[in-house]
Amino acid sequence: MSIAVCPGSFDPITLGHIDVVRRALTVVDEVIIGVAQNASKKYCFSPEERLALAEASVKDIPGARVLPVHGLLVDFVKEVGASAIIKGLRGAADFDAEQAMSLMNRHLSGVETIFIMGDPRLAHVASSLVKDVSNHGGYIDDLVPPEVAAALSRKDSND
Ligand code: PNS
Repeated sequence: MSIAVCPGSFDPITLGHIDVVRRALTVVDEVIIGVAQNASKKYCFSPEERLALAEASVKDIPGARVLPVHGLLVDFVKEVGASAIIKGLRGAADFDAEQAMSLMNRHLSGVETIFIMGDPRLAHVASSLVKDVSNHGGYIDDLVPPEVAAALSRKDSND
């Protein structure tokens, strides 16, 4: 059985992430969505919230499951028996950010990263933009799973 890890901050998970997970499942049997920490980011949702929202969002996708990543991603990839990391690319800015991470992960452990081009119809869907739009009262229900839209709405009303 082939397993890949789709890692990320998922702060929060969006329809762009879900699209990459679905398409990754056309090339591997199981996709583990690894909810990790990016040391350079300040998060809106707690690790537990990001995990729960990702779980709720993929509950109906056979072959997808969600786990927290503690520590280095490459150690997690080995622990779960995955053969690769899969990440989505929306464009050149994503490529620039991902290039160093993929080379570092290969340097550390030999694990390869496979890139899937994101659906161009979702190229503007970034967690950071979704949070900003939502925070300013904009409509985001067609950009994120329903559970995430509800969670963002609760966050905004608590601000
Ligand atoms: O969605 P993001 O923030 O771009 O995802 C980046 C993430 C969380 C996958 C990356 O920061 C990561 O792998 N963090 C776990 C710790 C680690 O392995 N750091 C070295 C990365 S080369």
